[in-house]
Amino acid sequence: MSEERKKITIRALMRKKERGEKIVWLVVYDYPTALLADEAGVDMVLIGDSLGMNVLGYDTTLPVTMEEMLHHTKAVVRAVKYAFIVGDMPFMSYQPSVEEAIKNAGAFLKAGCDAVKMEGGAEIADRVKAIVDFGIPVIGHLGLTPQKVSALGGYRLQGKTAEDAKKIIEDAKALEEAGAFAVLIENTAAEVTKLVAEETDLIVFSIGGGPYCHGQLLLAPDVLGIGKIRPWFAKTYVNLRELILDAFKRYCEDVRSGAYPDPKEHTRYMAEGEYEKLLKMLGKK
Ligand code: KIV
Repeated sequence: MSEERKKITIRALMRKKERGEKIVWLVVYDYPTALLADEAGVDMVLIGDSLGMNVLGYDTTLPVTMEEMLHHTKAVVRAVKYAFIVGDMPFMSYQPSVEEAIKNAGAFLKAGCDAVKMEGGAEIADRVKAIVDFGIPVIGHLGLTPQKVSALGGYRLQGKTAEDAKKIIEDAKALEEAGAFAVLIENTAAEVTKLVAEETDLIVFSIGGGPYCHGQLLLAPDVLGIGKIRPWFAKTYVNLRELILDAFKRYCEDVRSGAYPDPKEHTRYMAEGEYEKLLKMLGKK
């Protein structure tokens, strides 16, 4: 008999970690995708600020605003019944001050999220602590942090040298001390992610950080083959780009050739005799 599905909580995530069950996390930005992700059984969803590139057409995540994030968050929240929902704090929503950080993290919870994710380590520990103190769960984000893409010199693998790796591990410890319950490690050498999982009590997630941790994250557009920038670590499960392109091209052809709408299948008519009556009323018969 299958177990009754329940809403995923932090306790449930902790239990999965303790049991060695891998946790599945997916980035979604809209109602229909979130509905399918939840039905498919993902444990967690993230409304990522990669929204900027994959939905809004920006070149980076930097222009994304709180208003844009909340608009999409509310659509995802309306779709999700079971998955743990994480809102991604966009650039400059937490960097300017502790007060801004608390206010904006609170806005994600008001919109229906269960937690927020923030990029950075020791340098944001005061923000993380303040947010956690107000009862808002926080997930840290280390390694390749897209909001610092310019300072990092592009979307390059992180933690390749012992010095860089040590800094990431120290940052993870600083986040744990500040009260974060989990950390996401992006585009980073696998040994570093493994050490963070061994050296902290955090739930450790990877997106391009290798398999030696508690869960994995991918972006729905990458899984579906419609991502704007497909990173080296993404696995594409279906080439939706080809399928969508083919469908749109066939729609163009059908309208232009008159094949759509079909006079029977896609067309509805007036009640019997009413057309003739109308023509008489209009003096056309
Ligand atoms: O915005 C996002 O989708 C993210 C992932 C790339 C980790 O933060």
